[in-house]
Amino acid sequence: MRAKELQSLTIAFVGGGNMAEAILGGLCQDTRYRLVFSEPSRDRRDYMKQRYPTVEGYSNNEQVLQILPHVIIFAVKPQIMKVVMLDLQSRLHDQQQQLGFIPLLISIAAGISTTSIRHWLNLGDKLPLIRLMPNTPALIGEGAVGCYAVPHGVTADHRLLTEALLGVVCKHISWIEKEHLIDAVTAVSGSGPAYYFLIMEAMQNAGVEAGLSSEEAKALTVQTCIGAAKMAMESEEDLVTLRHKVTSPKGTTEAAVKVLEIGNIRHILHSAISAAQIRSRELAEEFGKD
Ligand SMILES: NC(=O)c1ccc[n+]([C@@H]2O[C@H](COP(=O)([O-])OP(=O)(O)OC[C@H]3O[C@@H](n4cnc5c(N)ncnc54)[C@H](OP(=O)(O)O)[C@@H]3O)[C@@H](O)[C@H]2O)c1
Repeated sequence: MRAKELQSLTIAFVGGGNMAEAILGGLCQDTRYRLVFSEPSRDRRDYMKQRYPTVEGYSNNEQVLQILPHVIIFAVKPQIMKVVMLDLQSRLHDQQQQLGFIPLLISIAAGISTTSIRHWLNLGDKLPLIRLMPNTPALIGEGAVGCYAVPHGVTADHRLLTEALLGVVCKHISWIEKEHLIDAVTAVSGSGPAYYFLIMEAMQNAGVEAGLSSEEAKALTVQTCIGAAKMAMESEEDLVTLRHKVTSPKGTTEAAVKVLEIGNIRHILHSAISAAQIRSRELAEEFGKD
């Protein structure tokens, strides 16, 4: 999408919580957008307005729709998506009839399928709807996100606009062609930060038992994680080669890696990611019920 077309786009957020703040906070550096959000909590609205003075806050979703935004990002908890959608249905329907367009709808609610959203909105087959699965590093501009675009309703320009918006909080954007793969994205990158926190916690504790102070052990662990991740990202070599390169025969790394392999770390991570994928499917069934 060309810079001129981004000019004066109105981006609305339904829900002004953590994820909305992460995206809004990044977007308000760019003066081309008009940014609005709805949020029932007065304290939260006041906080957001104080922190981001150019952003407009409203107490209800109807007010936000009256502005006729070009994009609506749904950033509420999954369990209230249905009620939010049913509330907005008639206004979106009127807008479709009178103005002939529906804004680009972007949902970040975990576990809510586009089938459920389309069913609740009941606005026909050509709904411009995109579903995202971001992760918490988005809160510091380091997110990874998987995106699924509903066929027929989403244009190439919608995708470009979505990438422009997500680019402020995510360093990696993957488009997936089958919606069920959102469960795989959830299992790998959505829940992934927790796996690394757990591994780093265990490394820090082991470092302390080996004689380091807690602070030293944490700093060494965290920087090692960042350094390895950067090497994995920047090197042209694959992960296996990178590992072999730091694993000299009969050396210290080999001794450690052998223990990890005997302990079946690959199987453990495979089982963990499968468990997250299954749970993601179960939650989708639970939240998506009519
Ligand atoms: N945080 C993450 O890392 C992450 C990652 C992937 C996906 N997500 C998804 O992102 C969505 C938002 O997560 P979050 O962590 O930002 O949650 P959050 O901080 O709880 O934000 C949700 C906000 O929506 C407000 N809200 C409640 N009812 C509303 C309504 N009817 N209309 C408008 N706003 C309403 C809530 O206000 P009250 O608190 O007053 O109820 C709250 O401020 C969730 O669906 C989650 O699955 C989050």
